[in-house]
Amino acid sequence: MKILVTGGAGFIGSAVVRLAVARGHEVVNLDALTYAACLDNVAPVADSPLYAFEKADIRDGAALARIFAQHRPDKVMHLAAESHVDRSIDGPGAFIETNVNGTYEMLNAARAYWVEAGRPDTFRFHHISTDEVYGTLGATGQFTEDTPYAPNSPYSASKAASDHLVRAWGETYGLPFVLTNCSNNYGPYHFPEKLIPVVILKALAGEPIPVYGKGENVRDWLYVEDHADALLCVLENGRTGRTYNIGGENEAKNIDIVGKICTILDAKRPKNTAYCEQISFVTDRPGHDLRYAIDPTRIRTELGWRPSVTLDEGLEKTVQWYLDNEDWWRALQGRAGVGERLGAKA
Ligand SMILES: NC(=O)c1ccc[n+]([C@@H]2O[C@H](COP(=O)([O-])OP(=O)(O)OC[C@H]3O[C@@H](n4cnc5c(N)ncnc54)[C@H](O)[C@@H]3O)[C@@H](O)[C@H]2O)c1
Repeated sequence: MKILVTGGAGFIGSAVVRLAVARGHEVVNLDALTYAACLDNVAPVADSPLYAFEKADIRDGAALARIFAQHRPDKVMHLAAESHVDRSIDGPGAFIETNVNGTYEMLNAARAYWVEAGRPDTFRFHHISTDEVYGTLGATGQFTEDTPYAPNSPYSASKAASDHLVRAWGETYGLPFVLTNCSNNYGPYHFPEKLIPVVILKALAGEPIPVYGKGENVRDWLYVEDHADALLCVLENGRTGRTYNIGGENEAKNIDIVGKICTILDAKRPKNTAYCEQISFVTDRPGHDLRYAIDPTRIRTELGWRPSVTLDEGLEKTVQWYLDNEDWWRALQGRAGVGERLGAKA
């Protein structure tokens, strides 16, 4: 199977690329190499005869047409996006451009290619989205695939818009698609502006560890390699035109995540004081969703998929990875905005 993966130089896309190649699939990685990308993320497969790279922007319809015609993929996994909520507060335009207009261009190019190929039933446009499209939960309840969309940030609104476009291309033009909405990911190669790497790197630097508000926000954490496994499972076995929620079955408050990371570091890289003494509560994010939680019934019962990594195991592996890969994260810390407080004011 030949898969065109967009955003394959990013955090989750690179995990998909590495896993797909390891499973013997051909992969074309299409990525514009924005600030969030790092080709080192795919270094383990870069020399494989199964792997090809195309530097291209998903907003560039002509480039997409050329890449579809040249590589003739069997399936598409569309992950390329602007992904950082805090950046979407300061500069929403880039999120509309890439996540909405870029997805429109991807759908147009995929549809033209699929029609020209004789509309094969086996073609798949797999759109990778987020549980943030559903908005926020209170103390109880879980998101199902039927939960109405109620996005609260420019990021989640742009992803919601892209989900609607994908669904419409299926209903109107018959383009075979699957859609997945996933909870927060963490793990190796996570760009150093997201919560878990920020906590690890601020702790190691001896700097204040910023926690938004009171740290009461709850997320359902999924280890990134489990997410890549779930995505390939849906790509191959999911029902056309269907949405699958993907969760980690690992709900935790941000403050508890920070505490766990501090405890792991106390053991792995001991110093005179406990890392948790560096915790510093800072102004909350505007419109910060309180709680996300995934009801995983559909993917579990229809496809037999469950996450394999517990939160404690995943955090342990992640902290160890950052300790072992200092060259990787040091190189990214110089990029614009990294290490700064973004999105603090609406
Ligand atoms: N990170 C999460 O916890 C999470 C959870 C659920 C869903 N998602 C979704 O998964 C996908 C990947 O997320 P991530 O965290 O790996 O993101 P990321 O920011 O780490 O990577 C995004 C990649 O897309 C590329 N890209 C951005 N704009 C592009 C453009 N215009 N043309 C081509 N390439 C472009 C970047 O260069 C980068 O390599 C996104 O669609 C995101 O919405 C993420």
